[in-house]
Amino acid sequence: MHLIDRITTLYREEFGHTPAHIARAPGRVNLLGEHVDYNDGFVLPAAIDRATYIAFSPTNASHCTLRAVDFNQQARFSPLTIPSKTQLDLSPLPEWALYPAGVMWSLMEERVPVPSMIAAFASDVPRGSGLSSSASVEMAFMIAWQTLGGWILASMKRALLGQKAENKYVGVNCGIMDQFASACGVENRLLLLDCRSLEWKTVPLPDSVSIVIADTTVRRKLTTGEYNKRRSACEEAVRLLQQDLPNIRSLRDVAVDDFNCLAKGLPGEIEKRARHVVEEIRRSHQAQAPLEAGDVQNFGKLMNECHASLRDLYEVSCPELNTMVSIAQSLDGCYGARLTGAGFGGCTVNLVAKEQADGFARALAKGYESETGLRPEIYITRASNGAELIR
Ligand code: GLA
Repeated sequence: MHLIDRITTLYREEFGHTPAHIARAPGRVNLLGEHVDYNDGFVLPAAIDRATYIAFSPTNASHCTLRAVDFNQQARFSPLTIPSKTQLDLSPLPEWALYPAGVMWSLMEERVPVPSMIAAFASDVPRGSGLSSSASVEMAFMIAWQTLGGWILASMKRALLGQKAENKYVGVNCGIMDQFASACGVENRLLLLDCRSLEWKTVPLPDSVSIVIADTTVRRKLTTGEYNKRRSACEEAVRLLQQDLPNIRSLRDVAVDDFNCLAKGLPGEIEKRARHVVEEIRRSHQAQAPLEAGDVQNFGKLMNECHASLRDLYEVSCPELNTMVSIAQSLDGCYGARLTGAGFGGCTVNLVAKEQADGFARALAKGYESETGLRPEIYITRASNGAELIR
């Protein structure tokens, strides 16, 4: 049964009527520009064909009632319980409810009407896999509240408010890429975002290739701490480099040649982290020309370089991701393979010749399972539209 039918049925069972609306918001996969969004760099994600779906209706009650189908749990909160992150009975909100509650909080801060709703939601974006399941939940609730609140915000604004919810309410210091891709996705197109100016455009994905996502099924804990450490290392690098380059505001402003001259003055670990960022920003900038020319060979090369850099310099890979990537890179039809998202487990993204994609997926699954004993989930994805009201 498709998720839409499933949540509609569960909504009806729970609340006794048919939901007034259904919204969906996709996860994302990032092809290039990893760990650069919080350094003002360029990213190249696409919204994928896996998403969070919400069935929802307005209610006269002064509180929201949400059913999380994937957790088989319910939470109730209102504008009054939002600041304390609690439910109506004053028990703490379960972790999954922090995302919709955070969206309510950031919309309240924005002073737009945030009416009460009853809702059931579920997602087929695997959690903790680097495909932005949290951003998809946030963006789906943005659409739900936009529908019930009677206001319209631009998709980038909704993305920014979702990021604010995640940074300030949930407490995860993420950049803008995930919410942006979930809010602004365009069918069959990659998105190229300048994370400083927030200007973006779409780039066609050449017809001859498929994007294959390979889930190692490994989930690491404590990734938030490691993520925040990487962010601090980048900030420290900027502070140290400002002694010689007083006008820089972020690593985006540091050219690779200048960095090479100054790198020896940086502590070893800071140098490695900053080198990844400076070179990755150059790579993601360079990627535009080959992509627009349909030159998938050269684009794939940049993806491979990105993985090596995430593994050796930024140190956010893990043995299973490295195994998945090296098997992929050895297979026929694969132009490029690398980990996608924050790292420390989760998925890889592979650019593969379309007619070889099925064989590639089978060979990759077999090779990975025989090397690690783990059964991966591998699927060919399609770039999809961003968050929207379905009905
Ligand atoms: C996570 C964050 C994003 C981005 C990526 C790494 O997905 O939410 O903002 O920093 O990691 O590129």
